Amino acid sequence: MSRGLDSAVHLVQQFLSCSVQSGGTSVDATAGRGNDTLFMAGLAGPDGRVFSFDIQEDALQSTRLLLEDAGMADRVTLVKAGHEDMEHYVSGPVDAVIFNLGYLPGGEHSFITRPDTTVRALQSALRLLRPGGRVALVIYTGHPGGMEEYEAVEKMSTGLDNALFSVIKIVVLNRAAIAPVVIVVEKAGS
Ligand SMILES: C[S@@+](CC[C@H](N)C(=O)[O-])C[C@H]1O[C@@H](n2cnc3c(N)ncnc32)[C@H](O)[C@@H]1O
Repeated sequence: MSRGLDSAVHLVQQFLSCSVQSGGTSVDATAGRGNDTLFMAGLAGPDGRVFSFDIQEDALQSTRLLLEDAGMADRVTLVKAGHEDMEHYVSGPVDAVIFNLGYLPGGEHSFITRPDTTVRALQSALRLLRPGGRVALVIYTGHPGGMEEYEAVEKMSTGLDNALFSVIKIVVLNRAAIAPVVIVVEKAGS
């Protein structure tokens, strides 16, 4: 994985490493192949907890194997459910929530994240967040439905009360227009 400015995943990890505390709780809203869950579990440490959501068993199985190989499976709760229902499983407060949107690499493209459920999940994530905590999203616009999802997330994020949340957006200026976009939301307080 590139560790430069051209890697949206790396950028998001930089932003979240400041907010995930050892022993804290965090959420991976889109487990996929488990790379983000593994990263969050490393930050949370042996006394921390990561709740990792996906609607596909294939994704959860990949994530489980990755965690077992790294000896971190015991600090992660894998949840086969849509992230829009995360408040049924996580009581909060949480340090951080990561969304890596789109479809499972090498998997079934019909199980894609969608604007309405992503926005509902983002609203839940913001309610669960502790003061000073962060939500980070990697958003892809090049696939069918991706631009609509990006526009829905951007509209919701732009409308957040700036006394309660700070929101930034990162775009790569010298790459194709379909390069992923990063949005990070921080809850006020510390
Ligand atoms: C781009 S992948 C995630 C990549 C992953 N974070 C990684 O490190 O490999 C997006 C994932 O979101 C999942 N997904 C789609 N809709 C979802 C939903 N409503 N709730 C939770 N996961 C969902 C897909 O099944 C897919 O595995």
